[in-house]
Amino acid sequence: MIITCEQCKTRYNVADELISQSIFKVKCSKCGKIFTVQKPEEIKPLDLPEEAALPAVPPHRIIAVSNQKGGVAKTSSAINLGMALALRGKRVLLIDFDMQASLTIALGLNRQNKTFYDLLHAPGATLANVITRTRYPNLWLLPSGPNLALLMKKNINRPNFEKILRDKLEGIKDKVDHIIIDTPPSIEFFTLNALMASDFVIIPTQCEYLSMHGVAHIEEVIDIVKRKQNESIEYKILITMFNENSTATKVIHDKIKNKYRNKIFATTIDFDVKLQESQIMNVPVAQYDANSSSARQYMELAEELGGEKS
Ligand SMILES: Nc1ncnc2c1ncn2[C@@H]1O[C@H](COP(=O)(O)OP(=O)(O)OP(=O)(O)O)[C@@H](O)[C@H]1O
Ligand SMILES: [Mg+2]
Repeated sequence: MIITCEQCKTRYNVADELISQSIFKVKCSKCGKIFTVQKPEEIKPLDLPEEAALPAVPPHRIIAVSNQKGGVAKTSSAINLGMALALRGKRVLLIDFDMQASLTIALGLNRQNKTFYDLLHAPGATLANVITRTRYPNLWLLPSGPNLALLMKKNINRPNFEKILRDKLEGIKDKVDHIIIDTPPSIEFFTLNALMASDFVIIPTQCEYLSMHGVAHIEEVIDIVKRKQNESIEYKILITMFNENSTATKVIHDKIKNKYRNKIFATTIDFDVKLQESQIMNVPVAQYDANSSSARQYMELAEELGGEKS
């Protein structure tokens, strides 16, 4: 594996067999900088169970995490809810449907993997060879990569373009308990495909001044999708990065609770530096610190969604 010093950019070629841990610290012998290195993930072929091996269909099988407002913790919620469900014994497929590839990177994978683009356009590609294992049991990923931009260009004028993902998931949805789709901060090709494929939408939002507009907008879009052939789609709002010491936050929180009542999760995700640290290490927060407030709250969210231990 090639290790590059964060400071002086000196490159070292270290034999893979000498590296026993997935995350480790090294010291640059040139400039003396000590930095953390993560061993690249080894991609193994998909090994999903036969349908018969799975328990009864859980509720909220295909979940989109959506809000066109940026930076509200869509990706953080997708990865950490996915991990929480996986820890509870559920088989979870995460789909990174955002060109930024934050979810792919947050799981420690690089952007060179096959993506949904290859599934549609590479000859002979199947779901099984575009989905990769993650290093966590029960957790798989359909990664994002640069060719997702091309995917949108090639397909945006296709009739029924918003149903492409839904059609493709037919081949896999009975083999996992939950599919969680991370979407970009905009309503276009990817978000519309995700909403059309999903039976449930999690709308993460911070308690900030402009947040209520963001929630109202995605609600309108869900309503359109509901009328356009996805009648069963439901949604709930997830409060994220909550800071109980801020008066402004508490005022907006009360407003959101009053307005949405039964459309809001009982679980709230607190602002938690441990979650930020976990992302620097490219691991889910439960892996970084299982006792952190956000790790515990994403476990509660998994429970609230009905992901009981099997
Ligand atoms: N509970 C939390 N506590 C502290 N920081 C958080 C929390 N959740 C998310 N963050 C931070 O907020 C930032 C935005 O999070 P994230 O990338 O998940 O949002 P997003 O909605 O997916 O963004 P985008 O719209 O760009 O896709 C990140 O820096 C992340 O580390
Ligand atoms: Mg994101």
